[in-house]
Amino acid sequence: MSALSKKPIALSIADTENPEHQLNRVMGPGRLTLFGVGVIVGTGIFVLTGVAAAEKAGPAAPLSFVVAAIACGLAALCYAEFASSVPVAGSAYTYSYTSLGELFAWIIGWDLILEFAFGAATVAKGWSGYFTTLMDDIGVTLPSSIAGTEADFNVPAVLIVAFVAWVLIRGIQESSRLNVLVTIVKLSVIALVIGLGIAYIDVDNWKPFIPDGQSGTAATGLDETPLIQEILGQPTSAFGVPGIFFGASLVFFAFIGFDIVATTAEETKNPQRDLPIGIFASLVICTILYVLVSLVVTGMVPYTKLGVDAPLAFAFQENGVTWASTLISVGALAGLTSTVLILMYGQTRVFFAMARDRLLPPAFAHVHERYRTPYRITFVTAIAVALLAALLPLKVLGEATNIGTLFAFVLVSIAVIVLRRTDPDLPRAFRTPLVPLVPILSVLACLWLMLNLPVGTWLRLVVWMAIGFVVYVLYARKHSRVAGDPAADGR
Ligand code: ALA
Repeated sequence: MSALSKKPIALSIADTENPEHQLNRVMGPGRLTLFGVGVIVGTGIFVLTGVAAAEKAGPAAPLSFVVAAIACGLAALCYAEFASSVPVAGSAYTYSYTSLGELFAWIIGWDLILEFAFGAATVAKGWSGYFTTLMDDIGVTLPSSIAGTEADFNVPAVLIVAFVAWVLIRGIQESSRLNVLVTIVKLSVIALVIGLGIAYIDVDNWKPFIPDGQSGTAATGLDETPLIQEILGQPTSAFGVPGIFFGASLVFFAFIGFDIVATTAEETKNPQRDLPIGIFASLVICTILYVLVSLVVTGMVPYTKLGVDAPLAFAFQENGVTWASTLISVGALAGLTSTVLILMYGQTRVFFAMARDRLLPPAFAHVHERYRTPYRITFVTAIAVALLAALLPLKVLGEATNIGTLFAFVLVSIAVIVLRRTDPDLPRAFRTPLVPLVPILSVLACLWLMLNLPVGTWLRLVVWMAIGFVVYVLYARKHSRVAGDPAADGR
């Protein structure tokens, strides 16, 4: 029974007014959009563009970005409705609690750890790669066992996570200011890639735009074979039209973060209006930039050469414009910093909401008296992200992030349909158009991208969710505040 308890929306909103748990309301639509772009532009465009072009889609990589953007756009239409009707910290977790009940909320909260904590660790690792490359440029060679993307114990990744945790604990005002600065730097770098790169495009590099599919050429094994090919019994292949979709499920990582705008509800001046604006504006801006960057880069060098750590910088190096390549590396480093910052921010706010509901120990929801930030949970999050980034391989972290996020989008889209039926009169500042068509299309698009991820990634998702279920049964269910309050049931 308690697993089906729903948290009343009024209680969710009342929680935000309790001074012990109160956050500062400082963000407007402009800042929110910058905030969104700040987290969205990161490893995806700076690193994965090259991998997608070289190994999956060839010059058709921009189409992979378009496919991923369509899935995200559909999910965003669903996210925005929730964000504008339940303006409380915690993202999809909070929304599920009000619409689908506690067990679903737990499932999604647990799943979001894959998106935020694993995502932050993935980007911290990418940061380490760029840092090591830059140090190399200035003549300091760091040992590959402790730095770069392949390190056994990744020291720079741990250091960037520690720095970000310090900024977050100091408060959202400071975090947001740093983000504005860094986001402007990375947008300038992206503008440089597009504006200067156009001059170096050789249209022959775009031919053929969709290279022929190559059956059996890609490595096989659980971590390489997309589930869809396993199900259909096809040999593992790359390129061709399927390659565009494999590429899409990879570069999906580049869009992760728009949903984090929704987690800032309690720190937003007018969440009902500002959140949908922030989500859509950041998604549209990023899609345009990604398509342009991937077109330019695949036009500058043959796609087969792009499977390197820093493909954007590399494209300029190959064309003899070294000053631009160094500048791009510096910008990428700044850009990745803000991405780690906001992913960790998202994770702390989801944990915060779960602890406030006592699905996690409530001591974690304590807000710092002076900084008004959930400092304890930020500290714990930082330790977990640092360990993940220090020890796990980049590919495992990145794919876990993608599948976890897609799964969350599927659940949110279903929740929109359910909440429309169970609570039709709830005021919604933003309404998803064409319900249930749009949420259903969103579910199908996200599932399709999930099917294009490797079998091993699916197995990890299943194991992770199974662990979460055990924790729910042994801890969360017994301590839940909502389930323990009879008034919470049956609204
Ligand atoms: N979208 C973020 C990135 O590309 C997570 O790094």
